[in-house]
Amino acid sequence: MTQAHTARPIVLSGAQPTGQLTIGNYYGALRNWVAMQQDYDCLFCIVDLHALTVRQDPKQLRQWILDLAALYLACGIDPDRSIVFVQSHVPAHGELAWLLSTFTQIGELERMTQFKDKSLRHKHNINAGLFTYPVLMAADILLYGTHKVPVGEDQKQHLELTRDIALRVNNLYGPVFQVPEPLIAAEGARVKDLQDPTKKMSKTAEAELARVMILDDPRDILKKFKKAVTDSRAEIRFDEEQQPGVTNLLDLWCAATGRGREAALGHFSHHQYGKLKVETAEAVIANLEPVQARFRELSADRAALERILAAGAIRARQRAETTMKTVLETLGLPLDPGRFHG
Ligand code: TRP
Repeated sequence: MTQAHTARPIVLSGAQPTGQLTIGNYYGALRNWVAMQQDYDCLFCIVDLHALTVRQDPKQLRQWILDLAALYLACGIDPDRSIVFVQSHVPAHGELAWLLSTFTQIGELERMTQFKDKSLRHKHNINAGLFTYPVLMAADILLYGTHKVPVGEDQKQHLELTRDIALRVNNLYGPVFQVPEPLIAAEGARVKDLQDPTKKMSKTAEAELARVMILDDPRDILKKFKKAVTDSRAEIRFDEEQQPGVTNLLDLWCAATGRGREAALGHFSHHQYGKLKVETAEAVIANLEPVQARFRELSADRAALERILAAGAIRARQRAETTMKTVLETLGLPLDPGRFHG
């Protein structure tokens, strides 16, 4: 079977199945992915192989993979329009990662800030997979002829490396890989930590109050927003430097209501922080409640979820094999007729 040729450019993105996602992931990634289905030929991957770079409990990991699949769908990713799949269901990811590792310099990997950060956080387990993580990510992207990769600021460096690897191979052998471009989320979509609004909201933040999870109970969401750190200026305006907490709440209100900064100021500027906190919470809850309801429905039918992932894997594998055939041929590796017939 040949690659499906659609006129739309190809988008690929993914998230690790390592726990619950935050509203930062929702407004910064998932919600944008959903919108992209309009204009792009999308693949959304659950990168379980990447998750293994940190020790996981096998039972827990399996559950998180299904939960993440349910969450993708609950947010509005349509498995008929987009390919939703699990990375480990497509063996070519690991295979291509090996091949690409021979085109990647150790020095390049040593410069990756995420590797440096993670090595500090997991001192007892600085495994080779943590080091070659970006090569596997390059394989994820290059395997599907991806044109655009929606990523957060923190993944920009990995995408740069992916481009460098792709260009290096293309310079040696001709146009083997599509060279991907980043799609960085807009400023407003960068949700900050509610307790330390100078930092990005992280799903692994120590303090529960610091992060709002997509699946948090609405009562907890309200509580977390009420306790959000602001300042003592008693003035509602956009000022990331002087008033990062207030600015974060305003930005979130805008993201959640779909209204602009002008509207936010018109609505809040002569009011107190309490109103901003409560109304931002309410707007976020209004976005999340339908997602949570769909998540519960989808999670209740595990077999149906597994069928969706199995169908996604078939479609992803077909595309991946097309790329693998080219790559293997290009590098001089003999094609196995049992694998590539016709
Ligand atoms: N490294 C990404 C993250 O931690 C996840 C990821 C893996 C990814 N492969 C990808 C993102 C391919 C985009 C494209 O967020």
